[in-house]
Amino acid sequence: MLFGTQRVNGAGHLEIGGCDTVKLVEEFGTPLYVLDEQQIRENCRRYLSALKSYYKGESQVVYAGKALLTMGVCRIIEQEGLWLDVSSGGELYTALKADFPPQRILMHGNNKSLEELSLALESGVGRIVVDNLYELELLDKLCREKGQTARILIRVTPGIDPHTHRFIEAGQVDTKFGLNIKNGDAMEGIRRALAMEGIQFLGVHCHIGSQLLRIGPLLKAARVMVEFLREVKESLGIELKELDLGGGLGIRYLPSHNPPTIEEFVRRLGSTLEKSLKENGLSRPFLFLEPGRSIVGEAGITLYRVGAIKEVTFNKNGKPFKKIYAMIDGGMSDNPRPLLYNAKYHAVVANKAGLKGEIHYTIAGKHCETDVLIWDVLLPPLEPGDILAVQSTGAYTYSMASNYNRLPRPAAVLVREGRAELFVKRESYEDLVRADIIPPHLSK
Ligand code: LLP
Repeated sequence: MLFGTQRVNGAGHLEIGGCDTVKLVEEFGTPLYVLDEQQIRENCRRYLSALKSYYKGESQVVYAGKALLTMGVCRIIEQEGLWLDVSSGGELYTALKADFPPQRILMHGNNKSLEELSLALESGVGRIVVDNLYELELLDKLCREKGQTARILIRVTPGIDPHTHRFIEAGQVDTKFGLNIKNGDAMEGIRRALAMEGIQFLGVHCHIGSQLLRIGPLLKAARVMVEFLREVKESLGIELKELDLGGGLGIRYLPSHNPPTIEEFVRRLGSTLEKSLKENGLSRPFLFLEPGRSIVGEAGITLYRVGAIKEVTFNKNGKPFKKIYAMIDGGMSDNPRPLLYNAKYHAVVANKAGLKGEIHYTIAGKHCETDVLIWDVLLPPLEPGDILAVQSTGAYTYSMASNYNRLPRPAAVLVREGRAELFVKRESYEDLVRADIIPPHLSK
């Protein structure tokens, strides 16, 4: 399973973006996040052109920054002409620091603070997606005080089970997100928004869940949303101008994963929308899609150095078992997904990429708990010092990284046409204590 520009080079090493991963490790150390810039750019273009081909109305792709956001990533997204979804003051600050055009920023969050809303208004973000009535009132008040109007979408929940891990579901009726369509909350929110002086209400948003390998639920959500647009028209006499269907398209973490391609997804979504809009007698709204994982996920690998390799023998149900643990120099601090969502990953031995898998290994991290990254992967015989490349780590790894056990966060490099450029510096031990304060009464 090789993605984008990944290949096995003449030396039998894994190459990505024209760079030998063994050389990358010599230069930048481990653990190391590596991002294939060309693949990210291609995914942006594929989304844009698929939307143009398969949806006849106006549309825009909004990259969901929660998947991976740094100032460098903002530049790529800006250059590719996408909008950017930020979901906190910190993400907004990152985008503004990178000079991302504020009018192309869409601000999310289910509990935005007054400070976050103020920053959004002062910087002139393109859209604020309002999650609840409390926020709606807060925003209206803030706008009236500032003599501004906010262009908003309202997040609604279509009541659909997306069939994914329950921690990343968001569209079902029992959720903290948005206003429920079925119980009337969504309509009530819209009614109030329309009456507010500080609010320019433009449309509705939904996001039903993430890492969806089947698009049935996404298509169903699109139909429910269009029906809701019709209900709004019938009840309030207005046709909403904008519709945002969120993100959610899954990626390949394992060779057995088979999500639809970007084109197939957008094509089916486009035709579902066209049909549904026609049936409901509506004109085409401006359509936003908010992919995160499917833009950056497969473009990333994480390189680790293998250290201790331990054979563990035990008896299970009276039978002898043997397991081989290969320990890497990272783990749940640079990738918490296996522990959080039982996420599965695939790996190759970067310095032995031409060799066949022969032995089953369990890949474990170096944290003070059972931070297994991969429970079972077939690899060529491992030795201490080998470099392990875990694939499909571009999304929700660096962005969810921590300093657990006081491990410095890894560096991240962008690779493209044989060149590697740092876009996140490796943290140092000094960085770890930077925010620490020894209170005066504890001083020596
Ligand atoms: N829009 C909204 C409002 C979202 O909440 C999300 C993701 C997206 C777009 C992008 O979804 P994507 O295309 O990436 O599926 N940390 C979890 C994923 C959480 C997703 C949260 N929302 C994970 O590692 O799987």
